[in-house]
Amino acid sequence: MFKLDHLTDAKWVARVAAEPLALLSDHALCELKAAASAQSLIAKNPERRELVEGLAEVSVEEMEHFRRVVGVLHARGGTLGPALPSPYADGLHRAAKRSRFDQLLDRLVVAELIEARSLERFHLLATHLEDRELAELYGSLMASEAGHQALFAKLARRYFPEAVVVRREAELRAEEGALIARLTFAPCMHSGLAPGPVASDRA
Ligand SMILES: [Fe+2]
Ligand SMILES: [Fe+2]
Repeated sequence: MFKLDHLTDAKWVARVAAEPLALLSDHALCELKAAASAQSLIAKNPERRELVEGLAEVSVEEMEHFRRVVGVLHARGGTLGPALPSPYADGLHRAAKRSRFDQLLDRLVVAELIEARSLERFHLLATHLEDRELAELYGSLMASEAGHQALFAKLARRYFPEAVVVRREAELRAEEGALIARLTFAPCMHSGLAPGPVASDRA
């Protein structure tokens, strides 16, 4: 598993477990955004054949995840919420922009980090949730998300020197860790646990 700078406390699982429909809605929207982000990278880099082929597969898989998660949400009587801005994803892109070396490299490394964080959260949910249906859903998505994370790391190394990628991964991993540590709680896949005035991490 990709190293993360700030590991999530299991207390986060207990808190999201109290609001499963909100978590499922947020998670489904994350899958939809992941598919859209893969498609946008393809459209911006049409000449990069390995990227086009790899991300076409990622996009299809993210839509399949969306279909499964939204199916569970609907079966439980829930409905998708609005796709609001995410303090996590937006914060990460903002942090990358402040120290940008190359936009494609940053998009690949940020995507790699988001997959890594999602994988960490899926693992926690699969391990600690008492709701067996949801625990199994998260467990069953892990292999696919681990494959996405590995693909983003591979694509970064396909187009940039290893030393440059390793340095940027370390820089953005530190930014990601600091960001997730300061986010407050919301029933969202990428929320934090920090005490704060108002939790507004609905993504
Ligand atoms: Fe996914
Ligand atoms: Fe993914």
